Amino acid sequence: MFTITKRVRLNSCLSQITISAPAIAHKALAGQFVVLRIDEKGERIPLTISWCDKHQGTVTLIYQLIGNTTKQLDTVMEGDSILDLVGPLGVPTHIDSYADRVCVIGGGVGNAIAYPVAKAHFNNDVPVDVIAGYKNADFVILEDKIRSHCDNLYLVTDDGSAGDKGFVTAKLSQLLDEGVKYDHVFAIGPIIMMKKVCEITAKHNIKTTVSLNPIMVDGIGMCGGCRVVVGGQVKFACVDGPDFDGHLVDFDGLISRNSMYDNVHKCNLTGEVHK
Ligand SMILES: Cc1cc2nc3c(=O)[nH]c(=O)nc-3n(C[C@H](O)[C@H](O)[C@H](O)COP(=O)(O)OP(=O)(O)OC[C@H]3O[C@@H](n4cnc5c(N)ncnc54)[C@H](O)[C@@H]3O)c2cc1C
Ligand code: FES
Repeated sequence: MFTITKRVRLNSCLSQITISAPAIAHKALAGQFVVLRIDEKGERIPLTISWCDKHQGTVTLIYQLIGNTTKQLDTVMEGDSILDLVGPLGVPTHIDSYADRVCVIGGGVGNAIAYPVAKAHFNNDVPVDVIAGYKNADFVILEDKIRSHCDNLYLVTDDGSAGDKGFVTAKLSQLLDEGVKYDHVFAIGPIIMMKKVCEITAKHNIKTTVSLNPIMVDGIGMCGGCRVVVGGQVKFACVDGPDFDGHLVDFDGLISRNSMYDNVHKCNLTGEVHK
């Protein structure tokens, strides 16, 4: 059993929980995830580790309230426990050591995953810009944490209610047009956002890593549920990823597979839940 030591409701669609899991906290690196199960009847769901506290032996996760399991998770209170927490899973994000400048782009809840990637580069003394995009001011998360772990934070919202108005892709294009040079771009967020970022970076010949979120079942490479096509080859995101070369990913195939359950719930990863 794994005890929830802290719970914070970030906004109407996002929650943050800290869970006591010393073995995972000790080993986890940026980009890795856990698979959790609330009780014996529960589904397994993957969530990325936003940060760990090795001394306290805790991992912190940020999740969007999107369907049955995430809504049930929101009813597990501080001091209560969940049944299973498996991890850290997945290949850690490759953190550059010698780049002149990297850009980490987060969209919506993807900023919970972008934050540890930016922080790891910042702690490696690699200059890092972050473009953090949200639907509107109510959905802004982790602003202070990201700001204190990057050189420049460019905050944008769809409606301009916080930061600049517009999409992360417009801000990236603007920076590149102004002559900012990036050795490596990381994009984490809605699939369509990652696809559009890759179209821009391909034109500028910038290496681009994306973090893919296909539907996962076991999370250990046995079921094939998370298969994605990268460079014409089938890969399993849970063991081969979740990070891949964005210029090789078949995004349209991923969008099609991830919409398989849309007749049950329709989701918008920038923040809204539709039923
Ligand atoms: C490696 C990885 C890391 C992830 N990290 C995070 C994270 O840090 N925070 C977070 O909020 N979410 C994250 N996700 C997505 C998260 O796992 C799903 O939102 C969750 O499983 C939904 O479970 P549910 O039972 O609440 O919703 P369900 O009832 O299972 O689904 C509700 C809706 O969400 C869609 N959906 C389910 N799983 C996914 C998915 N993987 N990608 C896109 N749409 C999906 C369904 O098609 C359906 O439309 C991650 C996914 C992966 C693969
Ligand atoms: S989730 Fe089963 S193979 Fe990846």
